[in-house]
Amino acid sequence: MDLGIAGRTAIVCASSRGLGKACAHALAQAGVNVVLNGRDEAKLDAAVKEIASDTDVDITPVAADVSTSEGQQTLLAAAPQPDILVNNNGGPPRKDYSELDREAMVNGVVMNMVTPIELVQAVIGPMVKRKFGRIVNITSASVKHPLTGLDLSSGARAGLTAFLAGVARQVAADNVTINNILPGAFDTDRLRSGLQGAANAQGVPIEKIVEQRMANIPSGRFGHPDEFGNACAFLCSTHASYITGQNLLIDGGDFDGAF
Ligand SMILES: NC(=O)c1ccc[n+]([C@@H]2O[C@H](COP(=O)([O-])OP(=O)(O)OC[C@H]3O[C@@H](n4cnc5c(N)ncnc54)[C@H](OP(=O)(O)O)[C@@H]3O)[C@@H](O)[C@H]2O)c1
Repeated sequence: MDLGIAGRTAIVCASSRGLGKACAHALAQAGVNVVLNGRDEAKLDAAVKEIASDTDVDITPVAADVSTSEGQQTLLAAAPQPDILVNNNGGPPRKDYSELDREAMVNGVVMNMVTPIELVQAVIGPMVKRKFGRIVNITSASVKHPLTGLDLSSGARAGLTAFLAGVARQVAADNVTINNILPGAFDTDRLRSGLQGAANAQGVPIEKIVEQRMANIPSGRFGHPDEFGNACAFLCSTHASYITGQNLLIDGGDFDGAF
């Protein structure tokens, strides 16, 4: 399917690895020029090479911390008026809610709520004027389905979801859409490090934890980042202009509900 977005420009935050990289790759395969981002320059360079190997779009790496104002300014300098913004970031470390102090809570809210809202504020005006804009926020299945130790992440992302639900309706008539994709278990570095942590805590091999987790997912496996990236690219396509303010859960059926 031709997604109708070749020649457009996207900022994809936190995209040197994992789900962000998969979104950037799928957009690049659709002909979109992409700004890639991550803090580690070597990993960022590796991502640029990987995406350049099967696309011929412009790829601009920006090594910066997206949670900071300076990092956001550097990203926006690379593409001052992007047609597409994919908001992504690391998540707060897993921690019991009773142990979170004020500083940790503020940091979590800045990472997963304030930062994406600030970037939306920075890019949405020109999108409205040009009558084209696509904003996708990578949130988490934990917005719908609480996960122990990830309460801060879930709360901040739920706040983002509620905030942008209103904004989405304000810009829908200008062909600017805002949607969220909620990943379940996707096979990325982040998932693997969590599985390794669980294996260490239980004193069992990681393979055993992987087997247990997969057995609890109706699809019987983890998601592949490419599956996530392709869904993101579709939401950024011309075909998706009537889809806005939505939460797309991609979890292999893990969330056990009819709605
Ligand atoms: N994978 C899953 O199963 C899953 C499930 C639910 C939710 N999520 C959420 O989805 C998001 C992506 O997860 P993932 O699995 O793709 O993670 P990942 O494999 O750990 O990749 C994270 C990416 O974000 C970059 N990054 C992290 N903090 C950054 C910062 N402050 N500024 C700029 N770049 C930053 C990392 O690069 P550097 O480290 O070099 O900066 C890396 O490129 C996270 O918020 C995660 O909590 C993932």
